[in-house]
Amino acid sequence: MSKKAKEVLSLYDVKCLGVLVSGSGANLQSIIDSTNDGILKGFAKVVLVVSNNPNAYALERAKKGNIKSVCVERRNFEDEESFNDVIFSELQNMKVDVVCLAGYLRLIGQKIVENYRNKILNIHPALLPKFGGKGMYGYHIHEAVVKSRDMISGATVHLVDENYDTGKIVIQKKIRIFSNYTPQDVAEKVSNIEHKIYPEAIKILVDGLSKNL
Ligand code: GRF
Repeated sequence: MSKKAKEVLSLYDVKCLGVLVSGSGANLQSIIDSTNDGILKGFAKVVLVVSNNPNAYALERAKKGNIKSVCVERRNFEDEESFNDVIFSELQNMKVDVVCLAGYLRLIGQKIVENYRNKILNIHPALLPKFGGKGMYGYHIHEAVVKSRDMISGATVHLVDENYDTGKIVIQKKIRIFSNYTPQDVAEKVSNIEHKIYPEAIKILVDGLSKNL
């Protein structure tokens, strides 16, 4: 079957993605781009962007992509549970099939994990299980990698469970680190591969869901 024919057939089973963000949203952008004109075209679409941060540039990206977005701030809720309940309702209202964490800086709620078991992905800018866990995010990771004198780093897309960075790994890709690299250099190289592997990992997941229909 031709690539075009496969794309047309898959239109009947386009999976809805909900993307959770806290910051710049460069990964969100790579996902949007690949649904518009890349490996996710005809297979998945972003129907909702949720940010816990009102200043996240990711919200601008959603707007430019004509994608519904909502900001749910933790400080407006009494506890984690009610905060996460609202996010869960937003996902359900938009009939989200797969949740993608893309630079989302909070632990995702139990209710969401249970209801979307094996359907939540996260991207981490290192080769898990190294440089993972609470407190290991953003620039801290690349600083720790350079300090460790490791000669490789990379990015990991994994399924999300109740803990930080412990779910099953879907894709990992490595980069070579040279001795003169600064954390900034590592960050740039890693971010380039992130934007490639996140859409690839989503494709693997949505293909699996379609086969299990
Ligand atoms: C990425 O490095 C990702 O691996 C991590 O948070 C960062 C988000 O960056 N989880 P951006 O918001 O996609 O630009």
